[in-house]
Amino acid sequence: MKAFISPNGVKKFSFGKVLPTETILESDYTLDESLFYGDVIKSQDKTQITLELREEDIVYGLGQNVRGINKRGHIYEAFCSDDPNHTPDKKSLYGAHNFLIIYGEKNLGIYIDFPGKITYDVGFTDSNLLDIVVEGSNLDIYQFEGSLKEIVNKFRRMIGPSYVPPKWAFGYQQCRWSYEDQSKVKEIASGFEKYDIPVDAIYLDIDYMEDYKDFTVSKERFPDFEALISELKEKDIKLIPIIDAGVKIEDGYAVYEEGVAQNYFLNDKQGNPFVAAVWPGKVHFPDVLNKEARKWFGDQYHAFLKMGIEGFWNDMNEPAIFYSENGLKEAIDFVKNQEGKNLDVTTFFALKDSILNISNAVKDYKSMYHRMTVDDGEVLVNHYDVHNLYGYNITRAADEGFKRYDNNKRFFLLTRASHIGMAKHSGIWTGDNHSWWEHIKLNIQMMPSLGMAGFLYAGADTGGFGFNASAELVVRWLEFSMFTPLLRNHSAMGTRVQEPWQFNEDTTKNLRNLIRMRYALVPYLYSEFMKANKDANLLYAPLSFVYEDEQSKRVEDQLLLGDEIMIAPVYEQNAKGRYVYLPEDMVMYKITSYEDLEKQPFELIKAGHHYIPLETHETVIFIRKNRLLVLTKPQNRVKDLSNNELVVIGYVEDSATYQCYNDDGTSFNYRDGKYTETNFKVNNKGSHFEVSVDTNDYSIGAITFYLIDSLGNCKVMKQGLTQDQPRLV
Ligand code: GLC
Repeated sequence: MKAFISPNGVKKFSFGKVLPTETILESDYTLDESLFYGDVIKSQDKTQITLELREEDIVYGLGQNVRGINKRGHIYEAFCSDDPNHTPDKKSLYGAHNFLIIYGEKNLGIYIDFPGKITYDVGFTDSNLLDIVVEGSNLDIYQFEGSLKEIVNKFRRMIGPSYVPPKWAFGYQQCRWSYEDQSKVKEIASGFEKYDIPVDAIYLDIDYMEDYKDFTVSKERFPDFEALISELKEKDIKLIPIIDAGVKIEDGYAVYEEGVAQNYFLNDKQGNPFVAAVWPGKVHFPDVLNKEARKWFGDQYHAFLKMGIEGFWNDMNEPAIFYSENGLKEAIDFVKNQEGKNLDVTTFFALKDSILNISNAVKDYKSMYHRMTVDDGEVLVNHYDVHNLYGYNITRAADEGFKRYDNNKRFFLLTRASHIGMAKHSGIWTGDNHSWWEHIKLNIQMMPSLGMAGFLYAGADTGGFGFNASAELVVRWLEFSMFTPLLRNHSAMGTRVQEPWQFNEDTTKNLRNLIRMRYALVPYLYSEFMKANKDANLLYAPLSFVYEDEQSKRVEDQLLLGDEIMIAPVYEQNAKGRYVYLPEDMVMYKITSYEDLEKQPFELIKAGHHYIPLETHETVIFIRKNRLLVLTKPQNRVKDLSNNELVVIGYVEDSATYQCYNDDGTSFNYRDGKYTETNFKVNNKGSHFEVSVDTNDYSIGAITFYLIDSLGNCKVMKQGLTQDQPRLV
């Protein structure tokens, strides 16, 4: 083992030579004498890392995974998995995010830089131990110290800034497996018009393709694809097609033929393209760990970009395998062999499992090979050893392809499988959840750990993907996801439809109000998102990141969103309210509709535990002490939101400031300082409030302040800025 230290005190412990994951930005590490905080035992093909856990310690992190914000008490795996049942018995989901923090008397952050499988026994087998098993002996362990915020900050600076989508991606997005033809897509777009509900994007799931072939369009179902793109573009609605990892094996299909001719696919042991099966039947997987193949695959997106498509979602890229030729044959042989036999319990279950286990089989992952580009050379690597880099690199292929097409345009990109290194290339959705109440809670609990791993542009399928959603569930879910950067309603084939107007009049009204409120929140969400990215902070934080009292450390269902507010969503069926813990006095804002703002639905709530009654149509947020929340007047598209009519709600005991960020929303010019900042300042002078607005944004117009003092009295002040007025008022 060799130890190193970076200028800001991050320690790195190297064991052998790790295959490059390209997660960590270069830094000036110097040799160091430090010892790793835990015990490390190495064998030929495994490394076991053991750390002590004190009784009070909390373990945060591990990105996308099941269970609570505090990960203690379960075994988890980092192994990108295509598993549509996100139940508490699972160990891994689609992402492999090897960052965690032990929070207690001494805080310790750990990132394990390793591309294969890692198991984390977080105080499950022995409640006092964190036992990590890495399936390999070449790895780097990074160790961080400091406060929770500092640890996240150091780690996130080390992995670099996260993916920034175009601003329209903060609007509402509608998806379904599938909007099967162009008339259905138009019908959905008209639905939003008819019900006057904001929307910025509609998705195309696998049925837009011809026989599930990537980068093709069904002539039968979408005969006027380009006209459809333009028609929707005129309405400022983006179409987002899906791209899957598997490339159909079919003579005459250019992507397949080129890939085979250039040896761009994953191979089997004999060096022939590996045959797996997914939606189209038999497929090959692009070898995106090979630089040339990655470029080739990324360039495939260009044809769609030329047609006017501005974003994609990349799916099935763990990669998901329904079956392999060999796996299927073995299973069928086994089943045939049991014919006519008197099956005992063991053989009966083996028979059942023989078919169930053919999907995503480790044996298949171990039968595929990459020609991985390492230091400008090529290394033959077994897929299993670098499994967690696959979804990351196929998505990176797309991002790099976009940049070659136009390197100053922000394209939209979502992916299912991920690794921390991917956070700079794309956003993620959290995969195939269900219309279960438990999954609203999982969505809430996953957001902070995703942020720790660098995934800021993230969200879950609102309303749930699998199973049927009730109206109440969709409303309650949206009451949470209206705050998540990605707000997408998606559902699976065969389930109850869940577009906002599909339930009843009341529900349509509620969902419309919530979506409109989401648009009102965009200035705040976008500001906080961009600031969290620039400063390497969390957008969603557990309460303990700010409040150090014992109660705050244990709260699992409330989050701080940005610097100004705390959210406390309802995630239980038939609930008429919920208990909320307030670590300090806050102003409660019960949201019903944007228009109801005028009724001043604010109330000062004292620190402590409270039961807050909340009807289905009521969402509650809490404004922190001496903080300001900025809203804008809702519109039906993000691009129509303006700063002409802003609202600032503040709980101001003494003084509060808020810096509202904005930029063109489409380019990367913000990196060159091309953005605007509006600084709101409010002083409580006892008898009155003093407000000032300092801005270089010339679109700022009328501002209505709702200012609440420490007695709970609300004062309304209107401030007008006109074009020729000095910016400082
Ligand atoms: C996968 C995706 C899901 C999509 C479906 C069909 O299950 O996770 O979002 O709708 O495939 O493409």
